[in-house]
Amino acid sequence: MSLSESDVKTLEAELSSAIDGADNLDALEDIRVSALGKKGSLSGLMKNLGGMSAEERQVFGPLLNLAKNTIAEQITARKSTLEGAALETRLMSERVDVTLPVSTPPQGRIHPVSQVMDEIAEIFADMNFNVAEGPDIEDDFHNFTALNIPPEHPARQMHDTFYLPENENGERKVLRTHTSPVQIRTMQNQKPPIRIIAPGRTYRSDSDMTHTPMFHQVEGLVIDENATMGHLKGTLEAFVKAFFEVDNVKMRFRPSYFPFTEPSAEVDIGCSFADGEIRIGEGDDWLEILGCGMVNDKVLEHCGLDPKQYQGFAFGCGIDRLAMLKYGAPDLRAFFDSDMRWLKHYGFLPLDMPTIAGGLSS
Ligand code: DAH
Repeated sequence: MSLSESDVKTLEAELSSAIDGADNLDALEDIRVSALGKKGSLSGLMKNLGGMSAEERQVFGPLLNLAKNTIAEQITARKSTLEGAALETRLMSERVDVTLPVSTPPQGRIHPVSQVMDEIAEIFADMNFNVAEGPDIEDDFHNFTALNIPPEHPARQMHDTFYLPENENGERKVLRTHTSPVQIRTMQNQKPPIRIIAPGRTYRSDSDMTHTPMFHQVEGLVIDENATMGHLKGTLEAFVKAFFEVDNVKMRFRPSYFPFTEPSAEVDIGCSFADGEIRIGEGDDWLEILGCGMVNDKVLEHCGLDPKQYQGFAFGCGIDRLAMLKYGAPDLRAFFDSDMRWLKHYGFLPLDMPTIAGGLSS
């Protein structure tokens, strides 16, 4: 076979234009194999070198090598162009505009109990009360004895207490049956004047339409040198009006008994039940909403405060019932079912925080 220079040039030109025309990496790879692979067209021409005379080889050797290198370089260059274009296409297709608004609104809701706790904290913050906390697992002293409920006192039976197993000191801790132990902890750790509310979880072995074994209370405590029952009434009236967002609320203080207050009262608010709807504030019916009174001297003494110098008032109120009344939820048990449909209906948007100025519940 006789090879001419123009054969080489023609093949080189054909391969070149094929490389330029390859519009994807697979097509380019096919061209590479068909030219430079073992059985490729250029490789085939190179095989002729073996049968050539020395003079011919001097001409065709460099010529074929040059053609081979030129084609290899063109393939490499085309490959990087195609790879760049492929990357560009992928980046465009996966492009995310981080400045766009998120497409789905937040799904979570604030539970009505949390909402009511926030509302209560906001109302009392406006009257200069701090929020205090205590442990859910209490000792007998803070939950009972210091609150003037000594062992064998009948009030202990009324509390349906959950007791923990006896510990190494022979002591049985309890799940706090009310938030009143936070009063004790506050008076032990803080000098009067004291103004606190203590919202939190409480526990009693009780369960029906209106009772759950875990429920929520808020405790209030004011201690100074001259707090009176009048201040107590004014404070509670301001609270009830702000909480139910009404200008007038009929209130009734009924004499009652709690070991930790003397005198003690239970507070009812006026309401009406018409057309299956409950209206708070006016009407001929009454709803009991909390217990209160002047802190018993014995309680002050248990906390190391001199009853001749200090006095004050306290109150305790069930939060779940307030939430049911304000937001019209009929069954307390649904509060603790963790049913997303219920929460979606009764819950609150996370960023709608209650404020006195901006509206408590709107
Ligand atoms: N601790 C009482 C209860 O759980 C509620 C209560 C009544 C708290 C009167 C008080 C109070 O601070 O003065 O039933």
